[in-house]
Amino acid sequence: MTTEMLQRGVKLLHDPLRNKGTAFSHEEREALGLRGLLPPRVHTQDEQVLRVMENLRRKPTDLERYVELSALQDRNETLFYRVIVEHIEELMPIIYTPIVGQACQQYGHIFRRPRGMFISDEDRGSIAEILRHWPHEDVRIIVVTDGERILGLGDLGANGMGIPIGKLSLYTVCAGIHPARCLPITIDVGTNNKELLDDPLYMGLRQERVRGALYDELIEEFLHAASEVFPEAIVQLEDFGNANAFRLLAEYRDRYCLFDDDIQGTAAVVLAGLWSALRITGGTLADQRILFLGAGEAGIGIGELIASALTAEGMDHDEARTRSWFFDSKGLVVQDRDNLASHKQPFAHDHQGTADFVEAIEMIKPTAIIGASGVPRTFTEDVVKAMSDLNERPIVFALSNPTSKSECTAKQAYQWSDGRAIFASGSPFDAVDFQGRTHIPGQGNNAYIFPGVGLGAIVSETQRVTDEMFVAAARTLADEVSEHDLQLGRVYPSLERIRDVSAKIAEAVAEVVYKQGLEREPRPDRLDEAIKAAMFEPNYDSTPTL
Ligand code: NAI
Repeated sequence: MTTEMLQRGVKLLHDPLRNKGTAFSHEEREALGLRGLLPPRVHTQDEQVLRVMENLRRKPTDLERYVELSALQDRNETLFYRVIVEHIEELMPIIYTPIVGQACQQYGHIFRRPRGMFISDEDRGSIAEILRHWPHEDVRIIVVTDGERILGLGDLGANGMGIPIGKLSLYTVCAGIHPARCLPITIDVGTNNKELLDDPLYMGLRQERVRGALYDELIEEFLHAASEVFPEAIVQLEDFGNANAFRLLAEYRDRYCLFDDDIQGTAAVVLAGLWSALRITGGTLADQRILFLGAGEAGIGIGELIASALTAEGMDHDEARTRSWFFDSKGLVVQDRDNLASHKQPFAHDHQGTADFVEAIEMIKPTAIIGASGVPRTFTEDVVKAMSDLNERPIVFALSNPTSKSECTAKQAYQWSDGRAIFASGSPFDAVDFQGRTHIPGQGNNAYIFPGVGLGAIVSETQRVTDEMFVAAARTLADEVSEHDLQLGRVYPSLERIRDVSAKIAEAVAEVVYKQGLEREPRPDRLDEAIKAAMFEPNYDSTPTL
């Protein structure tokens, strides 16, 4: 009996979902066989937060802070989430972009213990059986990557695992999805990253990436197995290489409950940023000419969602696509270019080409430029000046991640435009003081969108995820931007409000689900209350309904 109690007690301390550490009360310690296993003083959760923050701030580098936070997540998830929720501006850049990028690059070197699931090329034929090894049955969100295009860092193979882990942490932080409902997965089909293949500490398969039919079969088996083992889960595709991402989304979006965050989530956050920016510049979406640098998942996804939003306003879809122009590594995407990838073709307009971005700006006269190229320093002084000559308030979004890849910095955008640019980036930049004014750059962080979309999808138990849901999410996010935010130049609400914003997005998304008849459960009378009740609060007595 004593041994059993003792084992129970120790087991409890090693169960990150139930562990409270020094916050177990005297009564709990007595009842749960914990007496003697903890220092005598019972701490409050607030005191535990203090200790964590003191430790974190003492660390010499952000990567070490990442490692420290991962260790906390492995010990006590409730405390981990409480710490992040209370210090979201300070810690989101550590658990997500930009530091998660470094963590992925160093994954084999900073590895302590596994989190999430790895499915590899060697698991063909047994994926369903493997998924059943996961300890939680009621999984509602799966984030899966094959590691081919991690942020703007390229092919990181199995090291990409940091991304699904980080995104799912954000589901819990930003929208209160219970951690036990979240499953991070990496599909390891090899890597073409030579440095990793040569690294003795690399943890993935030592082989070149599998392509073609063998790759497709593995993904098909995975999606089928995931829907069989976790029938209520939504699958979020994350950081796949662009050829696969577009194909997989097109192939599976009508067969499974699935979306691609790089394509659809990014599109929604940027559309919201544009709608907010238009409250400053005064135009309508239909009046804009938007020139993208980069015609990949992010850029094309945004162009398509802008077209969907305009179509919903009554514009013909082909006409709606003419508002977006693309410039890729070979120049302006125009009709007479050879061998254009299929995702670029709908945006190849009948126009003279150029390989010079400034010339493209002078020809197209855009009201907004959006960088989604993964190539830093491509929004040069000449580029920003050309935009400022054309527009009183040029919209300049430099989205490439991490910070080192950004097309320009916030400071450059404000300086080169004489303080007139409306700037947003993918990774965070600090506020900039310029000519006596403080400008707060917007961070077009997908975390504004996907957690709320996921929460709405879970509460309504949708069978599919549609573009209309992302348009509704973008509209709601833009509506949450206050006049005060806009005066500071900020096109997104403060991250401090993210949980309320996500709840509102969830409501808007669920309404679309009901409108489209995609729900599996009837609409609750009070949708807003059902959403709040489903949210996990990071304190020890939170018992969400989902
Ligand atoms: P991708 O690989 O699908 O597309 C990159 C595109 O950039 C390709 O069309 C390529 O031709 C083009 N490109 C490459 N070099 C270029 C050059 N020198 N000039 C012009 N175009 C060039 O990548 P994806 O998924 O579209 O991501 C691109 C960047 O956007 C990444 O850095 C990523 O981190 C960032 N991103 C930002 C998000 C956000 O801010 N919320 C969300 C998703 C992606």
